[in-house]
Amino acid sequence: MVSPRTLAEDFYALCGRRRDVRGQFTGEPVDEQVLRRVLGAAHAAPSVGLSQPWDFVLVRDRATRTAFRDHVVAERDTFAGSLSGERAETFSRIKVEGILESTLSVVVTYDPDRGSPAVLGRHAIADAGLYSVCLAIQNLWLAATAEGLGVGWVSFYREPVLRELLGIPERVRPVAWLCLGPVTHLEQTPDLERHGWRERLPLDAVVHEERYPSA
Ligand SMILES: Cc1cc2nc3c(=O)[nH]c(=O)nc-3n(C[C@H](O)[C@H](O)[C@H](O)COP(=O)(O)O)c2cc1C
Repeated sequence: MVSPRTLAEDFYALCGRRRDVRGQFTGEPVDEQVLRRVLGAAHAAPSVGLSQPWDFVLVRDRATRTAFRDHVVAERDTFAGSLSGERAETFSRIKVEGILESTLSVVVTYDPDRGSPAVLGRHAIADAGLYSVCLAIQNLWLAATAEGLGVGWVSFYREPVLRELLGIPERVRPVAWLCLGPVTHLEQTPDLERHGWRERLPLDAVVHEERYPSA
């Protein structure tokens, strides 16, 4: 039996090991049973009112992924156009997706009608449904890391474009396009930090006692 101490140590190590991957995908196959376990971990996430408002669309088709990649490249250009000076120069060195290099993509969606009309706990905070989907994504991310796979979250897209591409109904929100697959390695430091875009904050900068800090 695994001792709780070991479980905690493994878990914290896993949290530290997880990375957003763009450049380290190998494109090798993902074992279907491993994929199933990773999706099962996502599906085990907590959700408001047990609504489980997520769906996972597995996109393996290269033509679909290429069409999405082309859209992401255009959106990357749009963002780059909003930058100047050092920011523009730094951003030009940052890779923001590994859509074609990864093995497959998992598009995670949010269906606000799942479990409705009386979703227990969502009456006052509509976003609680969306929070639930993000927890499923984090479970997926950590499970994939534990399985030795990499995940890269791509958000350089317009929701209507992705809806159209995958036949997602109007009421359903695409929340994430996740690139998934084996990797050569996981970096120890986030890409954005390695490239000088931004640094992680120390824990003490975001932990406060009793009251939100005054400005
Ligand atoms: C909601 C969300 C959207 C993100 N979108 C992108 C993206 O479009 N492209 C990208 O390269 N990384 C994206 N990331 C990854 C972040 O840049 C990354 O998580 C952050 O820099 C910290 O690095 P780490 O995940 O390796 O710790 C996204 C992450 C989140 C949570």
